[in-house]
Amino acid sequence: MSFDLAARLAARRAENLYRHRPLLESPQGPEVVVDGQPLLAFCNNDYLGLANHPQVIEAWRAGATRWGVGGGASHLVIGHSSPHHALEEALADFTGRPRALLFTTGYMANLGAVTALVGQGDTVLEDRLNHASLLDAGLLSGARFNRYLHNDAASLAKRLEKATGNTLIVTDGVFSMDGDIADLPALAREAKAKGAWLMVDDAHGFGPLGAHGGGIVEHFGLSQEDVPVLVGTLGKAFGTAGAFVAGSEELIESLIQFARPYIYTTSQPPALACATLKSLELLRSEHWRREHLKTLICQFRHGAEQIGLELMDSFTPIQPIMIGDAGRAVRLSQMLRERGLMVTAIRPPTVPAGSARLRVTLTAAHSEAQVQLLLKGLADCFQQLGPEPSHA
Ligand SMILES: Cc1ncc(COP(=O)(O)O)c(C=O)c1O
Repeated sequence: MSFDLAARLAARRAENLYRHRPLLESPQGPEVVVDGQPLLAFCNNDYLGLANHPQVIEAWRAGATRWGVGGGASHLVIGHSSPHHALEEALADFTGRPRALLFTTGYMANLGAVTALVGQGDTVLEDRLNHASLLDAGLLSGARFNRYLHNDAASLAKRLEKATGNTLIVTDGVFSMDGDIADLPALAREAKAKGAWLMVDDAHGFGPLGAHGGGIVEHFGLSQEDVPVLVGTLGKAFGTAGAFVAGSEELIESLIQFARPYIYTTSQPPALACATLKSLELLRSEHWRREHLKTLICQFRHGAEQIGLELMDSFTPIQPIMIGDAGRAVRLSQMLRERGLMVTAIRPPTVPAGSARLRVTLTAAHSEAQVQLLLKGLADCFQQLGPEPSHA
């Protein structure tokens, strides 16, 4: 008996689903060097253009000089240092919640929050298009796990009728592969009616959404009572790395006691927390970044519609172009790359079968001229490739 890995890899290749890691040889930003090739990139999640910001870099440098580079231990041993604590307080203030708890990654924040809150005998209900980390968390929790139809409060309500034990409803704020946003007011109503809790992972909403970058809850004006468990990640619009859960005193103390992905891991480097404190300050104060991003999103959508591209229902920086066939999506991505443009093809299992897409992301660091170049490249590639055979 042996693991037949070669056959599994060959099968993945044959289905056009094989994944490669492009090698980034420059800092993150619109103009990058990938595998030795200069490219104009529309695929990172650095929505506000802070990942390579001089002030954030300087804060990191000063933090490393003052605090060293390693966390050194878990938070509960001796790894919880003053910059981590200051960042938690700043994030609590930013989200308007009594407390926030810093995690090393968003994946771990989601695993930690869900598994600490529900277990055997409880119920976890998730949007079927939730991020993989939320789905994995639901499965790992041991609670009864069920997925409702995408963004469909009626479908959720049906599942709530059969829920037992403590019930946690879990949704992305901005759906990472579609760019649409959760109908949070409706979900919050259903949750309240059944005494369930609503947990929102707003990884892609903090920064771009809300008048002050406060994400989907600010966008809809929702309170802690509506959304008791609020998750944000720091590797996207914040431009650094890590994540947080914000909520009540009891929630945060419970996570410190029971969230295994919080307890059993080394704290993030304190210098990283120093950098994030600076990026949080920029995210809150530099409104022009959100305004510029909005202008680019309108420009892109208008231009793409003129070319006849199939866009999705999104006003966020995530602007996927629906393709369908995985091979066709990969081919288009390659053709764009030959023209100096980098747009990632997203294929199953990341998205449902038959819904491969080009995931365009826009950032405040892009210029209108760069978006124009993207539109021109897309028009050329779609024209050259011609219609899909089945539609021809
Ligand atoms: C919606 C969502 N949640 C969580 C994560 C995971 O966050 P992290 O990259 O910090 O692990 C991601 C992507 O990375 C995401 O898109």
